[in-house]
Amino acid sequence: MDKFIIDGGERLSGSVKLQSAKNSVLPLFAASVLTDKRVTILQTPAISDALCMAQILRELGAEVTFRGGDVVIDSSNACNHEISSALTKELRSSVFMLGSLLTRFRRALIAYPGGCDIGLRPIDLHLNALKRLGVEIEERDGYIFCKCDVMRGADISLDFPSVGATENIMLAAVKAEGKTTLSGAAKEPEIVDLQNFLNGMGAKVYGAGSDVIEIEGVKTLGGVTYRPLKDRIEAGTFLIACAVCGGEVEISGINAAPVGILLHKLRENGCKIHSKNDKIIIESNGRLKCNRRIETMPFPGFPTDLQAQMTALNATCSGGALVVENLFETRFKYVPELHKMGADIEVKGRHAFVRGVERLHGASVVAGDLRGGAALVIAALGADGVSEVIDLSHIDRGYYDFQGKLKKIGANIKRVRL
Ligand code: EPZ
Repeated sequence: MDKFIIDGGERLSGSVKLQSAKNSVLPLFAASVLTDKRVTILQTPAISDALCMAQILRELGAEVTFRGGDVVIDSSNACNHEISSALTKELRSSVFMLGSLLTRFRRALIAYPGGCDIGLRPIDLHLNALKRLGVEIEERDGYIFCKCDVMRGADISLDFPSVGATENIMLAAVKAEGKTTLSGAAKEPEIVDLQNFLNGMGAKVYGAGSDVIEIEGVKTLGGVTYRPLKDRIEAGTFLIACAVCGGEVEISGINAAPVGILLHKLRENGCKIHSKNDKIIIESNGRLKCNRRIETMPFPGFPTDLQAQMTALNATCSGGALVVENLFETRFKYVPELHKMGADIEVKGRHAFVRGVERLHGASVVAGDLRGGAALVIAALGADGVSEVIDLSHIDRGYYDFQGKLKKIGANIKRVRL
């Protein structure tokens, strides 16, 4: 097990190059199984979620090669439609493999992904939508058995704009007979990325980024070489780190649109932000005021994946803030670790009441989930004294070379083995 040792108080300055988006790369890996032709995904970060997804594809019989930052996937020999429970438990979001396995093999068998550190994470929306496409589903002994000899397009509505369910439907409908109209779709930028990737393979998918996505089934799908979009959550994490520490940081590879609501909130805190083409520059004097209210919503609302980081920022702003987590039941588990650093935050269910304090102080804290762990790093960077953030396995799921990128902009951080 590894830990970070962070000596807080350094201002940050310099430029950050973003990785490809974790939440885009993962569905693209799943989509690569749709064809028996070669697929290349450019600049894929070797984050552990991507390595786990690669393992899942290899278990299906595909060849997955990481080469100079790109990934080449050849699933021409893929013949297995079952994903082991160990891998499904390790990577909950592998549930969208159902769609691509059904399209490729007309069969799929995965272990029930179960809950995780941020909430129950049910998959009812996925399964109900697949049934609309004609899929027979049997849930038994913790496994989900799916089969469908002929996938038929259908009109599908989602009660909630679930990202994973939207992606699963796109993957399941792309070669179905006839047209599928999905209403109530998620509108995240990563959904648009998946549409572009599929259309690059010869699919006919339209409307991603809006509430209604139309998928016209096609007979064959070819290979594709694709550069995924950059990671807006990584961008937001570094923007918030600069707001906490003070300084001036440039984030390259992203424009304002995918992080619009975050920029609005950071300006509310008192940061100066301007963006031009694919660069965002933030300036902070490190003495900021609280956001009155942060409420997580589906895109384009405030992203739940930046909730923890913004709570850590508000912990050392003047005034008070109400943070409301509307997407996941238990996404405040990192707060007791912030208390160890002197934060004054009271959590009641999906609400966190933050009272800003002058400065946090260094402490030994444990990272219990991906974005909560990033929030603890941000808090430690701005704290007085030395902190240690223990168990980096969650952070490694979504941030590649987190400490290297932070060190490059002036943070005093090192990674050591426990
Ligand atoms: C994706 O998860 C992301 N993961 C999450 O990022 C992100 O937090 C989430 O979307 C919301 O934006 C990937 O893309 C790999 P959802 P997903 O289905 O698809 C409920 C990170 O830190 N729901 O949009 O699992 C669910 O309980 C991760 O990078 C159902 O009720 O999220 C939740 O309340 C964490 N039934 C809400 O929808 C279902 O069948 C949002 O879930 C499915 C979801």
